[in-house]
Amino acid sequence: MSNEASISEKIIDESEFLEMRKANLLRWPTGSDVDFERALERQKSLPDHKRLDIVMRKAVAKGRCLVQPRGGFGTFKDQKELMQIIDKEGLADIVPTTTDSYTRNEQFALAQKGVDESEKLGRSLLNGYPIVNYGVAKASELIDAIDKPAIMLTGTTMPKLTGEIGFAAGYTGYLGSGIAYTTSYIKELSIEDGIKNYQYLDRLSAMYLDHGVELHRRQPSFLTGTNIPPSIAIIIAILDLLLAAAQGVKNYGLEMGETLHLIQDAAAVKACKELCQEYLSIKGYHDVFTPITLLHWMGAWPQDEAQAASLVSYGGTLAAISGASSVTTKTLHEAFGIPTPKINADGLRMTRMAIYLARNIKLDSMPEFQNEVNLIKGEVRPIVNKVLEMGDGDVAIGSVRAFEAGILDIPWSPNKWVKSKVMPARDVDGCLRILDPGNMPFPKEVLEFHEEKLRLRAEKEKQPYDLNLAVSSVYEMSESMQTLLSDKW
Ligand code: 5AD
Repeated sequence: MSNEASISEKIIDESEFLEMRKANLLRWPTGSDVDFERALERQKSLPDHKRLDIVMRKAVAKGRCLVQPRGGFGTFKDQKELMQIIDKEGLADIVPTTTDSYTRNEQFALAQKGVDESEKLGRSLLNGYPIVNYGVAKASELIDAIDKPAIMLTGTTMPKLTGEIGFAAGYTGYLGSGIAYTTSYIKELSIEDGIKNYQYLDRLSAMYLDHGVELHRRQPSFLTGTNIPPSIAIIIAILDLLLAAAQGVKNYGLEMGETLHLIQDAAAVKACKELCQEYLSIKGYHDVFTPITLLHWMGAWPQDEAQAASLVSYGGTLAAISGASSVTTKTLHEAFGIPTPKINADGLRMTRMAIYLARNIKLDSMPEFQNEVNLIKGEVRPIVNKVLEMGDGDVAIGSVRAFEAGILDIPWSPNKWVKSKVMPARDVDGCLRILDPGNMPFPKEVLEFHEEKLRLRAEKEKQPYDLNLAVSSVYEMSESMQTLLSDKW
C-alpha cells in the first residue's frame, strides 16, 4: 500500500521539523544529550583538517584521490583503538565509524545487550559501533582521539538518531540516502518511508548549514553490491541528490561501486560528475558541491589473500585514473568478515600506493572512453526524465511512482516495493551491461548495443544467451581461481 499522497520533495517546514526533532530525540535516553546550540559550538571548534566538507572540497580542488576504509567494533575501547590505528598506521584521509546491525535497524535494546556482553567479555560481539547506545559524549571522545575528519557509515534506512548523535559529537560526514539504501538494505520499508527518513537527515544537515556549519552528506549508489551497471547507479545518485538539494544540502558526495573495467569506471565517474550538475541546474540548484567516490569491488571477494591483494591494489588504480575524489577501501580479509585494525590499515596503504603510481594517467583522449561516457549519459537521461515527468517535476513523487511501475529498478533488490526485473551481466569486453531491462525505458539502440556485446561473450564462452550470464558474473570474482586456471578466457 502506498501513502504517496503524503510525500513530496518540498523542504520540511521549520516548525514541523522542530516538532519532528523533539519526538525523535525522545526515542532513546541518549537522545536527550543532543542540544543544538552545544552541537553547533562543538562543530565550530573543529579545525579545518577535521572537517570532511572542507577536506572533500580541497581534494577536488587539488585533483587528489583520498583514502577511507570502513570500520566498527562493539565496544568504545575497541572503536577508539581502531580509529587511531586507521588514522596513524593506515594513514587514512577520512576515518569511519560503521554502526552495528541492531543500530542500523534501530533495535537499541538489543544493541545494549550486545554492548553489555561485549564489555563483559572484553571483545566485540557486534558488527559495528552502537553509537546511539554510547551517546554523544563518548562519540565526541572518538573524534578527539583522531586528527582527521570522521564519517558515519550506518548502512541504514533509519538515520534519524544516529545522525543527530553523530553530528552533535563532531562527525562531519554521514553516508546514506533514502532511495539507494531503502532499495538495497531492507525488505519491509516502503520507498516513501525511506525517502522521508533521509529527508529528516538532509533537513538536519541544512539546519546546521543555516547556522554556519557545513556537513558532508554522501549517497551510496553501490546498491545491492552485485554487478550494478554505472547508468543504474547514476540514475539513483541523481534522484537522491535532488532530494537532498531540495532540503538545502550543499555538500553531497556520490559513491559508486567499481565495475572493475578501467574504461567503464573512468567513464562512470565523468558521466556521474557531469550529469549530477546537469540535473541540479535543470532543477535550479547552482551551488551544490558533488564530489565522486569509488568503492573497492562491492561483490563477493576471493578467499585467497594474494588474489584479494590484487583487487585492493587495482581498486586504487581504478579510482586514481577515473579522477574520483576518494576511494573507500576493503582488505585482504574481505571474504572472511570484519578485518582486524592492522589488516584494515594495510588495505589503506596498499591502495594509497596504487593511487600514487597511477596519479598522472588520464583517459580523456581515448575514443573508447568518450564513447562509454556518451553511452552512459544516453542511458541515464531518458530514465531520470521519465521519473521527473511521472512526478510532475517532484522527485519524491516521481521516484515512488517509477518504482511501482518498474521504470526505476534495481537488480537483486531485497525490497518488496522494487520489481528487480532488470538483470545485468558482464560482456565480452568485461564491461557491465544490461541483459534484461525489465520495464526500464532504455533507448532501443542502447539495448541493442548491450545485447550485441553480451551475445559475443556467450559465444566466446560457448554458453547459451540466458540468465546464467548474469549469475556467473556475480560469482566471477569470488571463484576467480577456477576462472584463472581455465581456458575460458
Ligand atoms: N568493520 C569493517 N568493515 C565493515 N564492513 C561492514 N561492517 C564493517 C566493520 N564493522 C564493510 C565490509 C562490507 C562493506 C559493506 O562494509 O567490507 O563488505
